[in-house]
Amino acid sequence: MLASCSQPAAEQSATAEVAAKVESAKPMALMMRAIYDQSKSMKQQLDSGNTLDASFYRFMEFHQLEPTDSTVLVEVFYEHNEKFKAAYEELLRASNKPAYNAMLTACVNCHEDFCPGPIKRINKLRYAEQ
Ligand code: HEC
Repeated sequence: MLASCSQPAAEQSATAEVAAKVESAKPMALMMRAIYDQSKSMKQQLDSGNTLDASFYRFMEFHQLEPTDSTVLVEVFYEHNEKFKAAYEELLRASNKPAYNAMLTACVNCHEDFCPGPIKRINKLRYAEQ
């Protein structure tokens, strides 16, 4: 079952249960956590008026890793990944808030089809539309 996709961590009751899930997390889930942290870090850079360093913010090829639920590995998933990668590259090129939000939209588009649980968290990383 896609526990991390169906409910946010905050709603999970026992700490031991959470710890067990962390230990058993599949490689794709672990990389997703890194991607989430990377997005947060990019936002901090933009907030500080810095240009995103493309050699530091490398694209993470999560689609090659083992997911919690292997049924996600269908054509639409890879199509979402290609669109996400394009939005990611555009963000590194443009280094601005609209491009950052567009990248997050690409995250959410895939999550709507395959892993709705974290969508709220992902949307919290957004800049308010101006
Ligand atoms: C092509 C589809 C796709 C894209 C694009 C995508 N994700 Fe994911 N994401 C997934 C799938 C599938 C999982 C479940 C992975 C697993 O459990 O193995 C996941 C899991 C997660 C999780 C939960 C990890 C955990 O703790 O188990 C977070 C947080 C997350 N993604 C954030 C993001 C962010 C932020 C972006 C964009 C910067 C993003 N995702 C882009 C498909 C995607």
